[in-house]
Amino acid sequence: MLLRVIRKGTPLWLLVFCLSTAAFAQRYKPDFRNRLAPFVSSPQRAVEKMLEMANLKPGETLYDLGCGDGRILIAAAKRYHVKAVGIEISDRLARTAEDNVKSDGLEEQVKIIHGDFMQADLSGADVVTLYLMTAANEKVRPDLEKYLKKDARVVSYDYPIPGWTPVDQAETDPSRYGNRHTIYLYQVPTSFKK
Ligand SMILES: C[S@@+](CC[C@H](N)C(=O)[O-])C[C@H]1O[C@@H](n2cnc3c(N)ncnc32)[C@H](O)[C@@H]1O
Repeated sequence: MLLRVIRKGTPLWLLVFCLSTAAFAQRYKPDFRNRLAPFVSSPQRAVEKMLEMANLKPGETLYDLGCGDGRILIAAAKRYHVKAVGIEISDRLARTAEDNVKSDGLEEQVKIIHGDFMQADLSGADVVTLYLMTAANEKVRPDLEKYLKKDARVVSYDYPIPGWTPVDQAETDPSRYGNRHTIYLYQVPTSFKK
């Protein structure tokens, strides 16, 4: 196949460029095996409660680790006029989130990164939102401790962060089946103490 392409007179520089781009993409594309939670979107009532508890102020930046379709980012940007960054390992979901951001005209405020949040620099976050699982929260905790600035808040839907103490917690309004879920609010560094 490669030889046939060369025989057809493709310039060597183009071949080198294509092969090195493919090798780069292969090397740096997020590895789906690092997916720490499946996609289940937060219900709208939970999104609203999480953002209310985060006490966002204009000019702050929210990160959603595993942003799914981008709903938390979009609600935060619209309602609280903050910047928002979503990191999503699924290519399909990252593209959906980007489309949703575009259709709301929020490209200036909301950035979607197709990548693995375990490889990300989180130092720009004032607020981090999580809807993962307890084991995933445990894995990401050292990065939160390493990167987050003093007074940054972490809001986790449904699953606590093992080893941290919440500064507040609340139940969502019941779903139509009567289910309620807990939202945990953590603050740096107060929550680091047991
Ligand atoms: C339960 S969903 C939450 C989606 C969104 N945050 C919400 O609340 O609606 C978890 C998301 O995390 C993503 N995810 C899991 N592990 C990840 C990783 N290591 N890096 C980036 N995204 C990840 C999944 O693909 C999924 O979309």
